[in-house]
Amino acid sequence: MIQEALKAKQKLINDRLAVLLKSDRLEHKTLYDAMNYSLLAGGKRIRPFLFLTVLDTLGVDSSCCVDAACALECVHTYSLIHDDLPAMDNDDYRRGRLTNHKVYGAGMATQAGDGLLTFAFQLLAEQKQIPADVRIELIDILARAAGPEGMVGGQAQDMEAEGKHLTLSQLKTLDACKTGCLLAAPVSMACAVAGASLKDRLLLETFAAHLGLLFQITDDLLDEKGNLEDMGKMPGQDEKDHKSTFVTILGVENAEKYAEEEAKLAKEALAKLPFDSTILYELTELMVHRKK
Ligand code: IPE
Ligand code: IPE
Ligand code: MG
Ligand code: MG
Ligand code: MG
Repeated sequence: MIQEALKAKQKLINDRLAVLLKSDRLEHKTLYDAMNYSLLAGGKRIRPFLFLTVLDTLGVDSSCCVDAACALECVHTYSLIHDDLPAMDNDDYRRGRLTNHKVYGAGMATQAGDGLLTFAFQLLAEQKQIPADVRIELIDILARAAGPEGMVGGQAQDMEAEGKHLTLSQLKTLDACKTGCLLAAPVSMACAVAGASLKDRLLLETFAAHLGLLFQITDDLLDEKGNLEDMGKMPGQDEKDHKSTFVTILGVENAEKYAEEEAKLAKEALAKLPFDSTILYELTELMVHRKK
């Protein structure tokens, strides 16, 4: 069921993303090509999927919110372009292609990331079908999740941690910011649109926090055990960059157990919800066993 649901939403998102970033001005052609190069290269679309699926789960017709879902993907894709830059993880492959800076150069890749980030907030502000106060809340949630207390803060911690040995607790704090925040934002945004009760929102946000940690644990495991064909990115990058990861701290076997534990906690939060959350449950399972 999850595979069909994921495919259907991925199609909705991909079709919309394909026409979203366009300019009539020839002077901007390279920038738009660079933005679309990474945005339209595939990717699992987990963040927009989560947003649309939580909306469905809360009984809202998610078809009204595809552009808001695309905004999440624009922010995420920007984070990947910048993450791959020579001054950061210095990676050559992403989403089955050469990284943005390998094709367009580090300067243009930086602009492509900046363009996607800024465009995402323009897109959210434009969603007139969503009441203005809710739109402001969506902008607030996404800005906090992406910003210095969220993803960017986590990326800065990640850079400063290179070559050092983090404790498990330090790594969890880093990953909650780096990865957790942008996976929790879609859930909070869906709750805001749906006007979810505080109780349901807290349960869904607890689910998202565990899913976020689980997601980074399996990302670290895939860096150790995955392959370029499945993942579209090169394994072995964390060792090259002297990162502390769940694998370096716990070893493969215990990291796998930790992932299972986080999945269990995520599912426990779902089980307390007063409505059907089967798709979110299955998504959690998929994230434990993912190959990409
Ligand atoms: C990779 O994110 C970066 C992390 C936060 C671990 P995804 O695994 O969601 O990458 P795409 O979007 O599928 O390419
Ligand atoms: C990066 O984590 C998370 C982001 C905020 C982009 P990683 O550096 O581990 O992500 P990958 O493995 O390059 O996708
Ligand atoms: Mg990184
Ligand atoms: Mg990286
Ligand atoms: Mg990684």
